[in-house]
Amino acid sequence: MADTRLPVVILISGGGTNLQAIIDAQQRGELPIEIRAVISNRADAFGLERARRACIAISVVEHTQFASRAEFDQALQTRIDATGAQLIILAGFMRILTPDFVQHYSGRLLNIHPSLLPKHRGLRTHEAALAAGDAQHGASVHFVSTELDGGPVIAQTRVPILADDTAATLAERVRAQERIIYPLVIGWYASGRLRLSDGQIVLDEQILRTPRLIA
Ligand code: GAR
Repeated sequence: MADTRLPVVILISGGGTNLQAIIDAQQRGELPIEIRAVISNRADAFGLERARRACIAISVVEHTQFASRAEFDQALQTRIDATGAQLIILAGFMRILTPDFVQHYSGRLLNIHPSLLPKHRGLRTHEAALAAGDAQHGASVHFVSTELDGGPVIAQTRVPILADDTAATLAERVRAQERIIYPLVIGWYASGRLRLSDGQIVLDEQILRTPRLIA
């Protein structure tokens, strides 16, 4: 029987709790994907160990070994394309990508960001949400565009900010929700329900004008 699973590559830089959630969902038979490789820009990322335990091919492309961002991205692109992946999943990949790289994977590059975009782009989002006095925080899954954390948002999950929250407690609650929302959106994409068309998100053949909220 033909293999209908979507070949994907997952890019990481750190602990890989999102990666683990994707692996677990795939192993439970909930995600029609085949993880061709996990690639990290850091050799010490614990996520590589998670991939190894799941018998997934791993690869390291260290950004420190390249003279420029463009050369790093080119090497990364070559490594990704050698796997035949059709979807590239950023799961805690902490590098800014060049426009050439992003355009090469247009409509095939997903990211999860720990804030309710467009709020709090960039780093230290939990600190930013606390400092802003926000009542709610959360995470967003989006298609990557050339604007940093600026691509079309597919889905969001919200958590309340509690009076005694610190950046660490807030981050932990957000991450628990990320582990739910990211596999779900990847499943939509892999099963053909989700695509990017002329810069607009199409979900179940309808244009999605506001992010789908997932509790
Ligand atoms: C996650 O919270 C993810 O949203 C964030 O990094 C963390 C990675 O955790 N990503 C970004 O900040 C991207 N700009 P993990 O390695 O345990 O999945």
